Amino acid sequence: MTLLALALDTPDAEEAVRWAKLLASHVDVMKVGLELFVSAGPDVVRRVVDSSERPVFLDLKLDDIPRTVAGAARAASRLGIDWLTVHTAAGEAACAAAAEAAREVDRPPRLLGVTVLTSLGQRDLKATGMTADLEAIVDRRARLAAAVGMEGVVCAGTDLSTVAQAAPVLERVVPGVRRATTEPDDQSRVVTAAEAAAAGASMIVVGRGIVRAPDPVRAAVEVREELASARAMR
Ligand code: C5P
Repeated sequence: MTLLALALDTPDAEEAVRWAKLLASHVDVMKVGLELFVSAGPDVVRRVVDSSERPVFLDLKLDDIPRTVAGAARAASRLGIDWLTVHTAAGEAACAAAAEAAREVDRPPRLLGVTVLTSLGQRDLKATGMTADLEAIVDRRARLAAAVGMEGVVCAGTDLSTVAQAAPVLERVVPGVRRATTEPDDQSRVVTAAEAAAAGASMIVVGRGIVRAPDPVRAAVEVREELASARAMR
């Protein structure tokens, strides 16, 4: 089964809580990302946990030296969240330190390693000096996530088969999901919900496709229907 996570991407805590309440019974997971966290602080995470009664995914993509990443992962883990992201580009020691620190709390979150952002393609990576094949980078980073004991990775839908081969035990979380009819916005490597589910995503993340739709509830229902139809075809 592929879970649907809703990205509460707004700087406004009241709007985020309103979306969380409105859509709580139509999505499986609430995702708090950088925009909301930096604007509204840790308190908004607790508010989303309480108001939606849904598991919460805190997507901070922690990327720093091991001690700092560990400290942030420890603090985030005390917020009652269910998933937390760390960027695998931070390196093996930082990822391992985050995994260890997260486990210090009573109910630790599941740690997800971000592989390569869905907004980046091969050309973007090259422009930052990363000349290896995108697929090879995803493969390496998925193996790293598994090696340090993370529970999953975040990857593009187009990277699912690479991750499945590199580290079959990992959860696979896929953002960059678009309705067949909408624009990719700033995302580069996009797939539809049905494609992601059929290719083995354990969770998809949808933001604008739902919250910016004319009728967000209807959009969420339709995304879930797409997931279910892909399941029926498998
Ligand atoms: O609006 P949209 O559906 O593009 O939102 C995607 C969400 O997933 C955003 O919150 C973004 O930060 C997040 N994300 C992503 N690519 C990753 C990891 C997270 O787009 N690799």
